[in-house]
Amino acid sequence: MEEEELKKRIDPEKLPRHVAIIMDGNGRWAKNQGAERTFGHRNGIRAVRDAINACNEIHIPYLTLYTFSTENWNRPQEEVATLMTLLSETLIEEETEMITKGLRLHVIGDITALPDMVQEQLRHVMDITRDNTRGNLVLALNYGSQREIVKAVKEIADEVKDGSLQPADINEQTIEEHLYTKGIPPVDLVVRTSGEVRISNFLLWQIAYAELQFLDIYWPDFTKKDFFNCILNYQNKERRYGKTSEQIQ
Ligand code: IPE
Ligand code: IPE
Ligand code: MG
Repeated sequence: MEEEELKKRIDPEKLPRHVAIIMDGNGRWAKNQGAERTFGHRNGIRAVRDAINACNEIHIPYLTLYTFSTENWNRPQEEVATLMTLLSETLIEEETEMITKGLRLHVIGDITALPDMVQEQLRHVMDITRDNTRGNLVLALNYGSQREIVKAVKEIADEVKDGSLQPADINEQTIEEHLYTKGIPPVDLVVRTSGEVRISNFLLWQIAYAELQFLDIYWPDFTKKDFFNCILNYQNKERRYGKTSEQIQ
């Protein structure tokens, strides 16, 4: 089916509020054509734009993209450097687009470990898009879910220590308020490309009841059509949250 046809079939009443994507397979995509891994990262940017545009067209309010994990620092130094350069170049290119499209940029993860220039650019784009309300783009950068949970536990322990919080009052909401994703709705749909079926330390708390879809394509081949297909599949699921099917209908 063509992209427009797929888009028309999407039910605007049953859209996910938050889609999170594990953009995987750039290296293998490049290797398949005898190129360097970084060639795959460069070609992945078109797919990033497609995902953002697809969300914008059908009005999905939150899109989170797993862009660089806490574990990705263990890659060869040149590859890490190229990823940082690409991030920086793309931020410059996308600045005006984000404003035109009414998108607000958020970052989850510890950006203080990123190169100074990238940090400045991120802060700048977050700042100039602060009042945008049409959609939210969340970049997971130097993000690791376990580290995020450790950070939350430390902050909560400090509040208990200084007496501002009683242990008996700690609940799910307390945890959520100390995660990077504070204020961002839970994830409804996770999409991972590359054929790998794993979560790789991504949003462990936030995906508690998310639908998961694993696609057998590499990230640079991902298109809007794939995105719309994911949404259509998502709309065919019955989200029961522990209830029975009869209770839902
Ligand atoms: C995803 O593609 C991009 C990042 C993790 C930054 P990979 O670089 O992981 O590609 P594969 O999985 O090695 O093919
Ligand atoms: C996950 O992909 C991280 C990002 C997409 C940024 P990886 O390619 O790093 O995941 P693993 O290590 O193979 O699971
Ligand atoms: Mg990978």
